[in-house]
Amino acid sequence: MADSSDTVAANARRLDGAHQGVEAAALPEPVAEMDPDAHRQEALGAVAAAASLADLDEVRVRYLGRRSALKLALREVRDRETGMALNAVREAVEQAVASRQQQLERAELDRAIAEDRVDVTLPGTPHPRGRLHLVTQVRREVEDIFLGMGYEVVEGREVETTHYLFDALNMPPNHPTRSPLHTFYVGGDTVLRSETSPSQIHTMEAKPPPIYMVSLGRCYRRDTPDATHYPIFHQVEGLVVDHGITLADLKGTLRTLLRQLFGAAREAKFITHFFPFTEPSVEVLVSCFQCDGAGCPMCRHSGWIEIGGSGMVDPNVLRFVGYDPEEVSGFAFGWGLERMAILRHGLPDIRDLWANDLRFLRQF
Ligand code: DAH
Repeated sequence: MADSSDTVAANARRLDGAHQGVEAAALPEPVAEMDPDAHRQEALGAVAAAASLADLDEVRVRYLGRRSALKLALREVRDRETGMALNAVREAVEQAVASRQQQLERAELDRAIAEDRVDVTLPGTPHPRGRLHLVTQVRREVEDIFLGMGYEVVEGREVETTHYLFDALNMPPNHPTRSPLHTFYVGGDTVLRSETSPSQIHTMEAKPPPIYMVSLGRCYRRDTPDATHYPIFHQVEGLVVDHGITLADLKGTLRTLLRQLFGAAREAKFITHFFPFTEPSVEVLVSCFQCDGAGCPMCRHSGWIEIGGSGMVDPNVLRFVGYDPEEVSGFAFGWGLERMAILRHGLPDIRDLWANDLRFLRQF
């Protein structure tokens, strides 16, 4: 601890100093020393010399501010005559400041008009506009179609377990798609989904029927890229489960979807197929919109184009999630979004959708 007598002495000095400071600040400017005429001269000179609005503001503070000599003198005025003289100075300086301010503002405006002139005939700076990727456009279009029919759009999972990707979808233990040659294994039972169908299971596990949902997103398969394959692609999964759903509901719904996607004149054809999670399973075809069924390269001269898989939900799948197949029934479908885009625009190669060549993407 410091010596106490030292501290006391230091405090005393500090107090003394503070006291003096207060006195000094409060001490008025000696009024007698202010010669109003000289002061006016000086102030008006400074106003006239102010070359910018910022300069002028400084001058105003110096000569008219609360702590200016003039204001301090006015505060101390005792006789009428001095008061009138000082007020006359104040008014004169105020007027001078105001008119100088107008001058400077006018000059500033003139300068701006002269210098900042815009030549509207010069070419502008282009603002490049982005656009949605073709697959995103198709995705949103399909979402809109189903939202319009009262469906909900459900988020799925790109990383799945073999439980959801295979077991819950009624795939037998020896199903080829379980092979690591077909599906990407991240490690153990964790896989990248090879189809959007697991979203059916997640949706049904989360709530009781009725279910009217679509789920769209990326899928992954160990495919070698070529004109019609790419290891990443997109699907739309659809699922309806309710009382009394029949194949007629499936056909009506998917025919509606096809007509919205490919034109009101399109016909749909449903042929038998097999998927582990639907019974019966069907393959959906649309009448060729290129040749209207007459036969052309697009439909391989058959008049029909394959669109994707569908079927009535297998009772095993319903039981798996705790639904009663005696009570409710449903249909499902899973279609590729790239395929829709390719068909609609006659694209020659699926890889173009992944090359990110703007010359290609800008067309859509
Ligand atoms: N998941 C099947 C695939 O990727 C497509 C599919 C077929 C989905 C029938 C379904 C369905 O929901 O009912 O090949």
